[in-house]
Amino acid sequence: MNETEKKDWLKAGRITAQAREYGKALIKPGALMLDVVEKIEDKIHKLGAKPAFPVQVSINEIAAHYTPQEQEQSEFRQGDLAKLDVGAHVNGAIGDTALTVNLGTENKELVRASEQALQEAIKLIRAGIEICEIGKVIGSTITSLGFNPIKNLTGHGLGLYEQHAGIQIPNYNNKDNTKLKIGDIIAVEPFATNGTGYIQDGKLSGIYKLENIKTIRDNYSREILPYIIKEYKTLPFAKRWLIKKFGPVKASFALRMLKQQDIIAEYNQLPESNRGLVSQSEHTILIENKPIVTTKE
Ligand code: CO
Repeated sequence: MNETEKKDWLKAGRITAQAREYGKALIKPGALMLDVVEKIEDKIHKLGAKPAFPVQVSINEIAAHYTPQEQEQSEFRQGDLAKLDVGAHVNGAIGDTALTVNLGTENKELVRASEQALQEAIKLIRAGIEICEIGKVIGSTITSLGFNPIKNLTGHGLGLYEQHAGIQIPNYNNKDNTKLKIGDIIAVEPFATNGTGYIQDGKLSGIYKLENIKTIRDNYSREILPYIIKEYKTLPFAKRWLIKKFGPVKASFALRMLKQQDIIAEYNQLPESNRGLVSQSEHTILIENKPIVTTKE
């Protein structure tokens, strides 16, 4: 990575952290979810970056991949456990960070479990460490507090315009002896639950990602696909973003056609398989001689 790129990674991290803290304060009982995510996405633009993926506010047993739809009227409710997951990019260099907002009086320990697991992981992280060691400390921290780590969700490497690149950082000791090396950029994201510790595919999310570029015939797709390629490249995007730009008729039709032809794929929401409550904490870390947490406050 050259100096310009490094600056971009650090800037993206800083902006993502600012957007996360800004968003955290907006999550209150009675607040419209759509309003909250749009304000956070606007904030990212104002700070000089672009969203690396749609802002997500997965509630209670939904671990990830929930973003409100266009015109959705859902509100945060008293007692909700909201995972706020924010990503921003600068020239493709990404910051990815998450925290859990607890709108109830219970579940404080569950929130602490993912926070503490992340802190313990950060203490260990350095070039040369095996990634199963990171998973081990995440898993044992969470179980020592009486909860389960989610085993089929992982942290991940980050690359330019790539939200999941290369390595996976497990949330338990999966015996993977791959070592971190200088220059790696990773997002570490412990998920803790009072359920069994697995997620499954839930409802469709309205979040999509470009998969294969192919020739298309219908006019709406021919207008919208080049826009997707130029604006988002291989980063996830929201249906509501395209509706804003192209209107509901065109955008919905094109997304349906593009999905049918496997040009884009739609993510599923990820509920915990036993409907357990889920907490999450996440930071992005640049591996250098002294690793840098780019998404710190
Ligand atoms: Co992530």
